[in-house]
Amino acid sequence: MKALILAGGKGTRLRPITYSMAKQLVPVANKPVLFYGLEAVAQAGIREVGMIVGETAAEIQAAVGDGSRWGLQVTYIPQPEPLGLAHAVLVAEPFLGETPFLMYLGDNIIKSSITPLVREFERDRPNALILLAEVPNPQEFGVAVVRGRRVVKLIEKPKEPPSPFALVGVYLFDHHIFEAARAIKPSWRNELEITDAIQYLIDHRYTVRWHTITGWWKDTGSLDALLEANRLVLEDLESCIEGEVVECQLHGRVAIGKGSRLTRCTIRGPAIIGQNCTLKECYIGPFTSIGDGVQLHACEVEYSIVLDGSRIEGIEPRIEHSLLGKNVLVSGKARRPRALRLMLGDSSSVELP
Ligand code: G1P
Repeated sequence: MKALILAGGKGTRLRPITYSMAKQLVPVANKPVLFYGLEAVAQAGIREVGMIVGETAAEIQAAVGDGSRWGLQVTYIPQPEPLGLAHAVLVAEPFLGETPFLMYLGDNIIKSSITPLVREFERDRPNALILLAEVPNPQEFGVAVVRGRRVVKLIEKPKEPPSPFALVGVYLFDHHIFEAARAIKPSWRNELEITDAIQYLIDHRYTVRWHTITGWWKDTGSLDALLEANRLVLEDLESCIEGEVVECQLHGRVAIGKGSRLTRCTIRGPAIIGQNCTLKECYIGPFTSIGDGVQLHACEVEYSIVLDGSRIEGIEPRIEHSLLGKNVLVSGKARRPRALRLMLGDSSSVELP
């Protein structure tokens, strides 16, 4: 088995963060989303990984390297244009050859292990195995209709979903998927959809099996989903205090990295604070991830992600449900005239109380 990890794509729904950062590298609980996929692949005993990269290739390569950190051997495969998941499969054909493979979308995180699925696929050798999850918003995904053990129909982002079962971004294929990807036509969004390629396999009587996912799954492509993924990962956080804590109240599970110093703060976990941060007179609420080198003074942050090097000071209302990029400054210094002074990148969004 080989693995094909998809780390191209523009991440339009996470702008402006993704103007300066690949969406697969946005951290969830202080770890890039993509690393969760790499760990899952390594855990399943797969060694050879093809990584599809696009515009953000250099950044992805700098973060992942040769993959040896996970015991993996990563080969980078540039996709000249983001023309869809099935197009990515075709671009990877020379790398994959006849070897069956696990395809993993680099912005997906799943809680349960994929190892049993990989073992089942190796044992029973269906032509494809897909993973399904029951979701409240199936119209935002590929949707499957199943009957017994068979998959009957797959539709990409239907306006009126025929079932609540979304296609999770983890698939297992044998080489027949290349025939399927070559046969299909681009969709309305001008992409070769993997969903249509799997439908081709069904229509041509290839064996397509399905499983529902146990545990949670998140496609982290939007702010809401990213914060939810952060919450879900932090649910399993273990306490670990490596920094210095002076006159603070810590409740629940809290992780504080080396070189960080907290003074007169209240931290209500689960919450993670990276390395070399300075926090003074703050409240950090549940489901918050603070990156490295962050400075917080006289503010309250909850259910949020704050990336490396940012600074928040003197803010009255609690900051909630927020994603702050790297080196962001949010300051509430009382200067006259009292007015909002903003420098926001394209596609930023700010909600004021
Ligand atoms: C892609 C697939 C979709 C699948 C989803 C899972 O959607 O096309 O079928 O349900 O990934 O994350 P996209 O992220 O390209 O909108």
